[in-house]
Amino acid sequence: MQDIKNPRTYRVKSFGCQMNVYDGERMAELLSAQGIAPAADGQDADLVVLNTCHIRERAAEKVYSDIGRLKRDDGTTPLIAVAGCVAQAEGEEIMTRAPSVKMVVGPQAYHRLPEMIRAASAGERVTDTDMPAQTKFDVLPRRRRSGPTAFLTVQEGCDKFCTYCVVPYTRGAEFSRPYAALVDEAQRLVEAGAREITLLGQNVNAWAGENAAGQRVGLERLIRELACIPVLARIRYTTSHPNDMTQGLIDAHGEIDALMPFLHLPVQAGSDRVLKAMNRSHTVESYLAILERVRAVRPDIALSGDFIVGFPGETEADFQQTLQLVDAVGYAQCFSFTYSPRPGTPAATMGDQVPGDVMADRLQRLQAAINRNQHAFNAASVGKVCDVLVERRGKLAGQWLGKSPWLQSVHFLGDAQIGDLVRVEIVSAGPNSLAGVPIAAQPSRAQSSAAA
Ligand code: 5AD
Ligand code: SF4
Repeated sequence: MQDIKNPRTYRVKSFGCQMNVYDGERMAELLSAQGIAPAADGQDADLVVLNTCHIRERAAEKVYSDIGRLKRDDGTTPLIAVAGCVAQAEGEEIMTRAPSVKMVVGPQAYHRLPEMIRAASAGERVTDTDMPAQTKFDVLPRRRRSGPTAFLTVQEGCDKFCTYCVVPYTRGAEFSRPYAALVDEAQRLVEAGAREITLLGQNVNAWAGENAAGQRVGLERLIRELACIPVLARIRYTTSHPNDMTQGLIDAHGEIDALMPFLHLPVQAGSDRVLKAMNRSHTVESYLAILERVRAVRPDIALSGDFIVGFPGETEADFQQTLQLVDAVGYAQCFSFTYSPRPGTPAATMGDQVPGDVMADRLQRLQAAINRNQHAFNAASVGKVCDVLVERRGKLAGQWLGKSPWLQSVHFLGDAQIGDLVRVEIVSAGPNSLAGVPIAAQPSRAQSSAAA
């Protein structure tokens, strides 16, 4: 059976972080601009892009099983492109091990997909894992469609080299997109329907650029500018590194209404000894001091973090300090992972690797502590009045789902549309969501701006 050439339909499957989701959306826009249509639900696509993640697990192994599953009953295979961080890290190996893969494209090269598809349709197998200086962002098509919440990548790459992490190798050096291009993309997203924009970067708070007056500015200045876009009601940013948390950005949390009271600031561990081995270049104390300064300007801020348990050499006493830190902060939510040795990173060859069952047990205890914190944070929201940005319909008739300013899921019954900001009183709280009751007769529709 002939395999597919000159694809007419596509599907992009993204795994991993929000930046991959963003890249997946941009790839989809690029393919649509080439006249290739998104495959309908349940329909086989001629072209499948697997937009992979390499941060944890045996992600590469998962890619091979995903590739195997793409083979159809009639023996044909779609045109398969492997994109994302596994492509960057293990491109050559994928080409050797998986003959059905015709394209391997790294996260900084996917703007070249149209040429690659032409070459693959002509029978070639092509790999592009360059990290070109001329950025993909200059050539990608302009944004035309958006839901009420949108992602906008403002910064990529990482120079921090935490000893467990592949990102500096797969995404390359820290790079900030230019100020004017970001303001332009944000405006287009808003015209296309976005009411909330989340600024993305592996080190988003390391973003730096030049404003229209030629001044060197940081992320808070960009946020201030975006907050002036009419109709854009909410701005968020993620992920931040403690060392790039400037006073200017902290102050912005007290001054810009559109900047939501939520901060995702990974700490990874509660033991200074482990933090040092991780090359985090901050301590528990310096991390807590940052949170104190943020709370001073924005007392209701919801805090979020990332944790790794079972880093090489982590003892039970180290781990106890992580549990203490979680309770000391009172997180609104957290992500927590067992340590996963990544090929090529310094930690992968460190002695004292922690056994899997010990890691699993620590993860369970950590997640119990995080859930307790999250439930307490949610319970403290009962009685508050806040706006909910409506994202979709709920399961019940007349039910709507959306997010509070503190990024909690809220459901309510009432009159609304997707994209509305509906003022509700929070009446009850569960571990993962809140129930609200609308208190204003008139939801604020897209024409009324809630920007600062
Ligand atoms: N093992 C486990 N977790 C990891 N992370 C990054 N690298 C690893 C790894 N090798 C986690 C960190 C990071 C988040 C995005 O993923 O907590 O903040
Ligand atoms: Fe990875 Fe550390 Fe960079 Fe975050 S700061 S992307 S954990 S190396």
